Amino acid sequence: MCIISFLHVFFFPLYDMSTTRGNLRTYMDFEQSLCMNNIRKRKTWKHGRCPRYGIVTIMQGGRLGNQMWEYASVWALARRTGLEPYVPQCIRVKLDQLFEQLTVPTFEEIGHCPVEINYFVKSLEAWNYTNQSIILPKYSIQIDLVLTWVQDIVQEFTINKKLLKKSQQVLHLAIKDFQMKNYTFVGVHVRRTDYIGYLKRKHNTQPAEPIFYKTAMKIFEKKYQNVVFIVVSDDPLWCWKKFGYKSNVYVASKQQKNSPALDLAILASCNHSVYDYGTFGEWGAILAGGETIYYNLSHHSSARIGQLMKNWQTIEEYQRNHI
Ligand SMILES: *[C@@H]1O[C@H](CO)[C@@H](O)[C@H](O)[C@H]1NC(C)=O
Ligand SMILES: *[C@@H]1O[C@H](CO)[C@@H](O)[C@H](O)[C@H]1NC(C)=O
Ligand SMILES: *[C@@H]1O[C@H](CO)[C@@H](O)[C@H](O)[C@H]1NC(C)=O
Ligand SMILES: *[C@@H]1O[C@H](CO)[C@@H](O)[C@H](O)[C@H]1NC(C)=O
Ligand SMILES: *[C@@H]1O[C@H](CO)[C@@H](O)[C@H](O)[C@H]1NC(C)=O
Repeated sequence: MCIISFLHVFFFPLYDMSTTRGNLRTYMDFEQSLCMNNIRKRKTWKHGRCPRYGIVTIMQGGRLGNQMWEYASVWALARRTGLEPYVPQCIRVKLDQLFEQLTVPTFEEIGHCPVEINYFVKSLEAWNYTNQSIILPKYSIQIDLVLTWVQDIVQEFTINKKLLKKSQQVLHLAIKDFQMKNYTFVGVHVRRTDYIGYLKRKHNTQPAEPIFYKTAMKIFEKKYQNVVFIVVSDDPLWCWKKFGYKSNVYVASKQQKNSPALDLAILASCNHSVYDYGTFGEWGAILAGGETIYYNLSHHSSARIGQLMKNWQTIEEYQRNHI
């Protein structure tokens, strides 16, 4: 199988092993070295069994969407290799705020175990023996592997009840007579602000024009009845200016800013998705699990996801199939 790992944002040189080698004797020290900030010192460590073979882990980088990919990449690589997966506490703490069924442990139970840093490789391709460990660089996205088990990763990222309830309340706000009609909710992810500069630098491209979102909305309006669009964006005011004239558009965070966790839960609670770019909206669409109309941006991870997922289409693809 062809394994593609896309690196978002920047590629930072992996973990300088030569300088830290002398200091890292146990996984206790090692875990801290994987995190962006100082992690909470544990008062007690559970002394579990030490790994017999290698482990899979990753360095923390980026925000929620990136860290979901980092977690999922470790999870999938462990399935593929049979190695034991571990994520640093900093990633687990972040994701535990949203999800209630995470299975990949932190280093808490193996903190006392010696780290065999000489047996670390940085990718599946470089991995030859079961006694070697894999430490993935930050921003890793193991798309092909993760999507091999897409239903299982969606299960892994089961949103907790509190957030689900809140997100349902937002959907209720978007319509008045919730019980009366059979509504179809389409989450629309609009990434602006700092990503505009990133698109220019990294992809030498402009952000999606309003016509992209409007055309995608039309596709869903044609296909379903009683469609309601729930717009989630880092720039709600821009969205309100562009799409607020439509009576079936609700812009989240317009009055009061939602947490990223709630915004993700809202996208995940929708039936279908319109997605532009960025890892956050990507997960919103994957977790929603319905049909996704996505922006055609080559060299972005979404292009590969679009190839792998039957329910993901660009506007061009949709139109080709519906002449
Ligand atoms: C793994 O095997 C490949 C090809 O056999 C070799 O080039 C590479 O150096 C090996 N990697 C390690 C870490 O032993
Ligand atoms: C790891 O496996 C290789 C290949 O089987 C072997 O040569 C090496 O001695 C092993 N190292 C350890 C620490 O077990
Ligand atoms: C509600 O709408 C969905 C999607 O359009 C459809 O699959 C389902 O059969 C509808 N249910 C009812 C009770 O009309
Ligand atoms: C659409 O999403 C709403 C809100 O999450 C949900 O209540 C409803 O069951 C979904 N409809 C279908 C057809 O899945
Ligand atoms: C994306 O756009 C390019 C250039 O217009 C086109 O050749 C390609 O088919 C499009 N890809 C998809 C998946 O729609």
